[in-house]
Amino acid sequence: MMRLVVVSNRVTMPDRGEKVAAGGLAVALRSALEQHGGLWFGWSGATTAEPATSVEPVRHGKVSYAVTDLTEAERQSYYLGFANRALWPLMHYRLGLTEFNRADYAGYLGVNRRFARLLIPLLKPDDVIWIHDYHLIPLAAELRRRGVTNRIGYFHHIPWPPADVFSALPFSATLISTMTAYDLIGLQTQNDVANLVGGLVALCGARRDGNRVKAGQREAVVQAFPIGIDVEGFRKLSVASVRAATQPVRATTAPLGSRKLVIGVDRLDYSKGIVQRLEAFGTFLRNHPEHRGEVGLLQIAPPSRSDVPEYAELDRMSDEVAGRLNAALGEFDWTPIRMVKKAYSRSALAGLYRRAQVGLVTPMRDGMNLVAKEYVAAQNPDDPGVLVLSRFAGAAQQLGEALIVNPFDTHEVAEAIRTALAMPLSERRRRFERLYATISSTDIDWWTSRYLAALSGLDIPSGDIVPP
Ligand code: F6P
Repeated sequence: MMRLVVVSNRVTMPDRGEKVAAGGLAVALRSALEQHGGLWFGWSGATTAEPATSVEPVRHGKVSYAVTDLTEAERQSYYLGFANRALWPLMHYRLGLTEFNRADYAGYLGVNRRFARLLIPLLKPDDVIWIHDYHLIPLAAELRRRGVTNRIGYFHHIPWPPADVFSALPFSATLISTMTAYDLIGLQTQNDVANLVGGLVALCGARRDGNRVKAGQREAVVQAFPIGIDVEGFRKLSVASVRAATQPVRATTAPLGSRKLVIGVDRLDYSKGIVQRLEAFGTFLRNHPEHRGEVGLLQIAPPSRSDVPEYAELDRMSDEVAGRLNAALGEFDWTPIRMVKKAYSRSALAGLYRRAQVGLVTPMRDGMNLVAKEYVAAQNPDDPGVLVLSRFAGAAQQLGEALIVNPFDTHEVAEAIRTALAMPLSERRRRFERLYATISSTDIDWWTSRYLAALSGLDIPSGDIVPP
């Protein structure tokens, strides 16, 4: 039987507590691996002075974990530098924030080479290898170069921009051409598929044949696989959390009394539109003063990538905007915005989502956004809340019954908050039922099994396995 080998930059070890698993990718991969069993390889999250030359897997239940430390120089160049100051803003259509530096690019390629060298001794001939996200784009090419012939799939969790945007990256043609070392490339939406295929054609002369892209001797299938969540598990968590009134849920909702709760939960990242959302909430209160004193926004924003200057700036700016709005619009017995910059357990989040009348998910650009799906999963079917969702989140392609908004339009988001708070129960139920049916029929098991069936069932031509 084939063994699943998952590779991602971030690996969540089971003994590190559930708060660490707040990122969507980590939660999804943990759930997929717990079901299928296999090996999970990646960065430990720690740094070391001496890079390891081998890795010893550690088994927990059905999953073996093989993690390696990075040197501080690698963390700076590969993770903070190229992955998060060049690729992250570029992939999120933010050319103005994209910082390219040759030394960082060399560090990125170096870590991918080192990961290939560490992974190869752990591989068995029948393993199916599934590599995740933008940190590891060239990893399959490095494995192929060293003779690995196993099936190798890639899943890109974040958006893929149009070729014109991607081509602003120096060495964009070289980097995108390494994608053809994969047998199957999964993306979140059809739009992302069209952009990547357009890039492969425009930048490295690939030919398209249906959902196959051919370049030299290599052929990769490119397809959309929208990622899902463990809907039933999260629903149960939300019921249990509200029933037990766990500490964060009690502490957050007790001062509200009969007040209504609007909730936003995001890593503190500029792609999530947090500052724009705070402004929209302020606009809503200014334009509809009758709601003052009776509704509050709770924004949970655990810090992320704080060593990257653009993230430090967002940290400062979000405090400033929340402080300004609270001072201008608050009363001595009512604070309109509460922002907490720390991670909460999934159980506490599930309870808070269930308690909130409105889920505000308004990223400026997002691959999928699993908070949108978690918010729906956590609702009480008898009295569900309303999801306000950015049209630039991949989730909007599936969740059309949410109130879809343009996050760049503060007024539109403000009006959507008002509409959501005033929505009659019958309409809330109708929308919720459809949303819930969608997230249930495309849950995490659906995503994993559909991707793995495609990867293991592919008819892959033999021939030169080295990418052009
Ligand atoms: O889903 C996108 C992603 O970049 C993942 O690859 C990552 O694990 C998650 O966001 C959280 O970011 P980070 O690993 O940089 O903390």
